Amino acid sequence: MEPSEIISVENLVEVYADGTRALEGISFNVKKGEFFGFLGPNGAGKSTTIKILTTFLRKTSGHVQVAGYDLEKSPKEIRKVIGVLTQETIIDVDLTGKENLRLQGRLQQMHGSVLDQRVDELLKTVQLEEFANKPAGRYSGGMKKRLDLASALIHKPKLLFLDEPTTGLDPQARASIWDYLDELNREEGITIFLTTQYLEEADKLCRRLSIIDHGKIVAGGSPTELKQAIGHDTITLSLKNPKDSLLRSETKRILQEIPGVMDVTDSDGGIAAHGMNANEIIADVVTALDRNNIRPTSLNMSSPTLDDVFLHHTGRRIRPEELGRKPTEQILM
Ligand SMILES: Nc1ncnc2c1ncn2[C@@H]1O[C@H](COP(=O)(O)OP(=O)(O)OP(=O)(O)O)[C@@H](O)[C@H]1O
Ligand SMILES: [Mg+2]
Repeated sequence: MEPSEIISVENLVEVYADGTRALEGISFNVKKGEFFGFLGPNGAGKSTTIKILTTFLRKTSGHVQVAGYDLEKSPKEIRKVIGVLTQETIIDVDLTGKENLRLQGRLQQMHGSVLDQRVDELLKTVQLEEFANKPAGRYSGGMKKRLDLASALIHKPKLLFLDEPTTGLDPQARASIWDYLDELNREEGITIFLTTQYLEEADKLCRRLSIIDHGKIVAGGSPTELKQAIGHDTITLSLKNPKDSLLRSETKRILQEIPGVMDVTDSDGGIAAHGMNANEIIADVVTALDRNNIRPTSLNMSSPTLDDVFLHHTGRRIRPEELGRKPTEQILM
């Protein structure tokens, strides 16, 4: 492990008792002070990775070091310096916000005025002062997440693990958590390891990320690097009958022959043509399809997003129901 690193993972494998292979030998590292992201769809292996790194789950094999400690030899030391926000809330709904934080503090061996001060400070930072004496069961989803976050921070961890911190929140609550996390990282220098299914979240917050799918890392780098590596615009066309394999292969062949088209791949319900500049190719695409009597139901042009990076590496979208891209232009055929 390099001195600049805070997490080092080599060839990590997790096979659950029922035989499920959740992690197929992943390797990555996180540097001190970094905001690092793990982006992937449901079931990719994100929570499994967090559970292992935070000592809650035993790894099957591989080598893991966290904060300079070996995972197997020094789990107690690791637990002292990390904070964890799990995917499921740890709040006791019968206790008030303040009581919840005091309880978490005592679990971290904190007492007396040190604990009192820390609790007050955190209630202020996550803006729950006003609701401090209300039972947490009556908090909104966003307030519960903020209380969970405050609980994870009680002992001033230098490394914070966040498992999908904003899933299920409305856009406003999500944005306020983003601001707070960004501040924690920039101003207090806390290293953050975050998992998410939200492309926008990874793009906005993470300075470096790994994209994970089916227990394997499919790509890694800064959001900009990842997007530049696929380095092109995409024209996606939907076919009336996407299951018609003859039509698919014929369409692909036609697209491939167009000058400026670098690559043609499958996409949900259609086909995607990639090129450096969609504006320059679109007219040729329309003409070529028309000449061959292929009438797509729609044509979209877009610049790369992290979802396109995922599509490029896996042939699927992360969240097909939520199209993580904003078409710059749509032409209905
Ligand atoms: N206790 C378990 N026993 C068996 N299989 C499990 C167990 N926990 C998780 N899995 C499986 O391991 C794989 C990875 O699950 P994991 O919870 O790590 O995914 P995830 O990326 O966190 O997904 P999500 O975004 O839905 O939270 C999935 O196939 C899941 O069904
Ligand atoms: Mg999960």
